[in-house]
Amino acid sequence: MPKPALSIKTPKKQGERTIALAAQLGLFDKSLEIGREDCYLYVPLARQPDETELAVLKREMVETQLESRDFVEKQPSAKTLSQILENKLPPHLLDSLPQALDVIGDIAIIEIPAELKPHEKLIGDAILQTHRNIKTVLAKAGAVSGTYRVRELAFLAGEKKTRTVHKEFGCQYFVDVAKAYFSPRLSHEHMRVASLVEPGEVVSDLFAGVGPFSVLIGKIQPNAKVYAVDINPDAVELLKTNVRVNRVDGRVFPILGDARELAATKLSGTADRIIMNLPETAIDFVDAACQAVKPQGGIIHFYGFVRQPDSAENLKHRFTQAVELNGRKVREFPFVRNVRETAPFESQIVLDAKIV
Ligand SMILES: C[S@@+](CC[C@H](N)C(=O)[O-])C[C@H]1O[C@@H](n2cnc3c(N)ncnc32)[C@H](O)[C@@H]1O
Repeated sequence: MPKPALSIKTPKKQGERTIALAAQLGLFDKSLEIGREDCYLYVPLARQPDETELAVLKREMVETQLESRDFVEKQPSAKTLSQILENKLPPHLLDSLPQALDVIGDIAIIEIPAELKPHEKLIGDAILQTHRNIKTVLAKAGAVSGTYRVRELAFLAGEKKTRTVHKEFGCQYFVDVAKAYFSPRLSHEHMRVASLVEPGEVVSDLFAGVGPFSVLIGKIQPNAKVYAVDINPDAVELLKTNVRVNRVDGRVFPILGDARELAATKLSGTADRIIMNLPETAIDFVDAACQAVKPQGGIIHFYGFVRQPDSAENLKHRFTQAVELNGRKVREFPFVRNVRETAPFESQIVLDAKIV
């Protein structure tokens, strides 16, 4: 039965890029076959893109339009995790199988519920069978913690490694999931923020990690200058590699050090835009951001966690107070959103704040 859906009509030569971009934005409807006609592909979408996504699509791809048409539904082929495991696990445990996995390059990271712990190796092997692109399966063995924001991981199956190369919006990121923070769940934010950077801007990415904000800015806004700071030496080594392989040297400058110390010295009064992606403790670094921003003001992208009954409104209030304590003012919050759920009743929120 044909199924009507909205699609991106794109010339075949841009097909691969369009599919990757639609998938990264969470728009690609993988249950439908891609349409083909003359020299065009029709990439089926699961929903209508929002304004930011439309801007990204427009900027990234010339000759792309949205069009509704009929698509053929894909035949289910490969076995699911629970089909592979149905005769190997007690039936009552099949419902507890992980529904989602974080895929970073060719490494999958999963959360194993306590009741499935004795069977974790079996689950790891099954994931290698269901996901041909995965070479290593690791399990979360603790929370993201410490100054470097990394977590303990346990090896489950495949190649025993923690290094990989992750692709996002046409950039390659060398990542070591055991040594430096990286989350594929922030790809939309990386692109949203990078898209806002204007030619000639100076950006300070105060908690840059391996560089997913900084490198992307360097890639899509060649006339901006980005200072990419991190205190974790392993993250900065990977960041240097990522600057090199993505050819953004001379635009993105990795700096190993403490954001507060650098904001008070080398970076003082230099930035038009500051990225503060350290949600757990970013509020304690508002003084550094206020010091790094130009005297005439700038934009701060501030990330924070909010646990119910706390709210985005309260976070705005706390941020405004911290800015005022440092002799600046919040003129407006042009954009506020819930970036993702991080735990039951807990979300990561971004505040874009214009400060003077
Ligand atoms: C949540 S991670 C974000 C990394 C990156 N922005 C991303 O989106 O993947 C926060 C980073 O801040 C770094 N960090 C923590 N405290 C810092 C400090 N005082 N100065 C500079 N970097 C710091 C950590 O090492 C970590 O890489």
